[in-house]
Amino acid sequence: MNIIKKPSWQIGENEITDEILFHNRRHFLKLGAAAFVSTGMIAQKLSALEKEYRIPLQFSKTAYGEGLELNSFEQASTYNNFYEFSTSKEKPAKMAHTLITSPWDVGFYGECENDTILGVEDILKQVTLEERIYRFRCVEGWSMVVPWIGFPLKKLLDIAKPKSSAKFVAFKTKYDPQMFSDQGRGIFGAIPYPYVEGLRMDEAINELAFVAVGMYGKVLPKQNGAPLRLIVPWKYGFKSIKSIDYVEFTKNEPKNTWQAVNAREYGFYANVNPQVDHPRWSQAKERKLGSFLKTKTLPFNGYEKEVAYMYKDMDLKRYF
Ligand code: MTE
Repeated sequence: MNIIKKPSWQIGENEITDEILFHNRRHFLKLGAAAFVSTGMIAQKLSALEKEYRIPLQFSKTAYGEGLELNSFEQASTYNNFYEFSTSKEKPAKMAHTLITSPWDVGFYGECENDTILGVEDILKQVTLEERIYRFRCVEGWSMVVPWIGFPLKKLLDIAKPKSSAKFVAFKTKYDPQMFSDQGRGIFGAIPYPYVEGLRMDEAINELAFVAVGMYGKVLPKQNGAPLRLIVPWKYGFKSIKSIDYVEFTKNEPKNTWQAVNAREYGFYANVNPQVDHPRWSQAKERKLGSFLKTKTLPFNGYEKEVAYMYKDMDLKRYF
């Protein structure tokens, strides 16, 4: 892949403020035109607007995904799986305002030389941002094509200097019932929390494994897993854990949430595989968000060339 790199990751704060003001001014003028709108209402609308405002990011373009037809931002940000809020696809976009993404620390533990806790801003100082357009396939049979902005997962892991004894890496989503309403439901929650996912170390340092901090040119919407999430495009979407606050290097395979929920239906590897059906439905086809017709699902979601070597000696029916 031809990756073009630029040094700085974010546009200047002045430019951001200018853009907020610019949008607010335009919005304000529009509101002002309707003479009956009270100043209280204007203030309310402006604050709602600021909540929705997403900071533009500076990043380099790459060749990943050239030629793929993108889904719209609207589609990718209003049809979500984020059980910490709800099992409904539409509700996370409406509920995610309770997730406070700044300040946000990420802890690194386990089989690594550099146990540490770092703020997202400090992590971002150590990486350069790039855009990668990836196919994304949910185990439920829907798919999308999204321009993610972020950096290779290997760069995040290198910060902690994993030891050679680290054979796997586990990720956890933040546990905070104040921010995530479903976590507050205790044993009545939809799934056990915190949400956990894991990768084998060779998978984690594969060139495709990616940490997203943005999409469609701007920071991630909260419902898509702000402030940082995993994107593992050759695996079913549940491996792409959101809102990460904990990275642990382990000797043994960690138990991921969906395996804990139902080990007969969900495994650790979860490689996209049209030949291995989910016990309750076929995985041969998928429906891209916004499309009426289904299309054939590709082995490893179309990334066979980049990842198949890691599984060459494995029976993928057994290690599903
Ligand atoms: N991460 C957390 N913490 N909680 C979740 O419920 N859902 C997973 C994954 N990551 C999930 C998660 C599933 S099942 C999918 S398909 C993707 O997030 C959905 O990502 P999207 O909402 O950005 O499309």
